[in-house]
Amino acid sequence: MASRYPSSWLDELRARSDLVQIVSGYVSLKKNGRKYWGLCPFHGEKTASFSVDGERQLYYCFGCKAGGTVINFIMDIERMDFSEAVAFLAERAHMPLPELENSEEYERRRTQRERLLSANREAARFYNELLYQPEGAASLDYLQKRGLTANVIRRFGLGASPESWTALTDHMLEQGFTLDELRLAGLTVVKGQEEAGQADAPVRYFDMFRNRAMFPIIDMYGNVLAFGGRSLGKQNPKYLNTSDTPVFNKRRGVYAANLLRKQRHLERVVLVEGYMDVISLSQFGVEGVCATLGTALTNEQARLLRRFAPKVYLGYDGDSAGQHAILRGLDILEEEGVPAGVLDFPDRLDPDEFIRRDGAEGFQRLPVISPAAYRLLRLRDAMDLSSQEGKIAYAREAAKVISALDPVEREIHIRDLMVQTGFPRETLLDQLQLSVPGSAAPENAPRKISSSRPSPPSEPGKSKSLAAQEKLISILASGQIPEDIVEEKDFEDDELKSIYMRLIRGESVQSVIDQAPDDASRSRYSEILLSPVAESKDQLITMASECVDKIRKSRIRNRCKELEQQILDCPEERRGELMLELQELRKQLKK
Ligand code: CTP
Ligand code: MN
Repeated sequence: MASRYPSSWLDELRARSDLVQIVSGYVSLKKNGRKYWGLCPFHGEKTASFSVDGERQLYYCFGCKAGGTVINFIMDIERMDFSEAVAFLAERAHMPLPELENSEEYERRRTQRERLLSANREAARFYNELLYQPEGAASLDYLQKRGLTANVIRRFGLGASPESWTALTDHMLEQGFTLDELRLAGLTVVKGQEEAGQADAPVRYFDMFRNRAMFPIIDMYGNVLAFGGRSLGKQNPKYLNTSDTPVFNKRRGVYAANLLRKQRHLERVVLVEGYMDVISLSQFGVEGVCATLGTALTNEQARLLRRFAPKVYLGYDGDSAGQHAILRGLDILEEEGVPAGVLDFPDRLDPDEFIRRDGAEGFQRLPVISPAAYRLLRLRDAMDLSSQEGKIAYAREAAKVISALDPVEREIHIRDLMVQTGFPRETLLDQLQLSVPGSAAPENAPRKISSSRPSPPSEPGKSKSLAAQEKLISILASGQIPEDIVEEKDFEDDELKSIYMRLIRGESVQSVIDQAPDDASRSRYSEILLSPVAESKDQLITMASECVDKIRKSRIRNRCKELEQQILDCPEERRGELMLELQELRKQLKK
């Protein structure tokens, strides 16, 4: 979060506020190895996964991903905003508060974010209270008819927007929020003079959400970012969602992140499509469920989910739109190196309908389908295996999926394929050979269909490269590494690149974290920036060189893959030039 305090003063404040000592005031810590450990104060737990890195002056909980600097710790535990936490620590360290730095832009953005979040929080409270008033009766009735218990309504903070044009806005104005803030937060629609085309036309406004059951969208740290509103009947749109605002980006978050963060040791996250699906599954006792926010899964969300559990199951609706979204989702998860599985709901049911029909036991019994098996299933559905052409086409497409697998999984699928298509093993193995990514394929090589993209061998390499980039950042932050070991372009990940730039400009690790753009980033930065395990400076340098090596090799390998494909696709006369580049790169790789 941006700050209005001079950065040198903040560095001094952090230096005089020892994190280990301050955390010890709230949590009993034990030293183990280079870090201190204790029970996380931000979520209930029985074994210690909350760590304090005295060297870096960072805390990080491996259970709930809470993390940050001493200022963040005070913000989270004392429920203060940034300036309150700074004042709290300054008093404790007997440091007078400095002249405020004249950084109006920062100040404006920071306070705006705080104002909008607090407007959203107030609106969520208003909607929730209304649920139990006559104006909210229709919504309450709707939610109850859909089988939700009082408990689960409370857990998700559901509410009711009244059938009035201005009830929320009037309430919020009374609370001291301005029309402009309400408009920015997406709570109020304002029609101003411009629309009317007359300078003296009165400003008109009305509530964004009217007569809908309200689903607050809450981030990891409990901030209300936005709302989804469900119509109570057949009115369209079925769901009305807050558009993107200065505090909400629907491509970056997931629904129910606040609950995910509290669930420890999740073996998997289940990603579903709808708010109601999350809530129903949760009511039936299924943990670790979240949903995208009315869009297809994005790369950012895939990276976010990886932080909550080691794998992700896609539990999308059983209809054809859902099946298509699963194929796309699997591609995205694969791109991000996240192990995935598919829960295929029978009879075109969505998760909500399914668990109400078959109960929690039915859900537990659902088989988890591997990405390859799922892609093959969908290919088979789309083709007519009773015709010879159908069998050929299927064998071709299936070979592309199968060629990317490890030997054991491949063997299983080859056997299935023999039975399904009637082709002998040798033929299928030949076809597989053609489909190995990067192998020189002849003229009529099967064309890629995007939704069954097999993972080329470079995919694990990519996530390894990302891991190396993250480790490299952590090593660099020790300040012990000669700068010329690394270059800016070694960081392909935008966030990592920007952290790198700030570190080499001399900004402190803590300041980078305190200024993280949002809570998900703060948590990610904290995890990455924990101090690396190394005995000596020499060891750090060796580790850094290894990381750089991995990153550069992986970059070259990816470029080679690209070139191989381009060489196949390009007109004859360009081939020579590309071949040269390819040979050059291969030489470099050997070195
Ligand atoms: N959605 C949306 N706008 C719509 C329809 C859907 O933003 N007009 C998003 C919502 O996030 C919704 C999700 O897509 O939760 C899934 O939509 P859908 O499957 O149509 O709804 P259900 O989750 O089945 O909702 P319900 O059970 O209430 O009908
Ligand atoms: Mn539904």
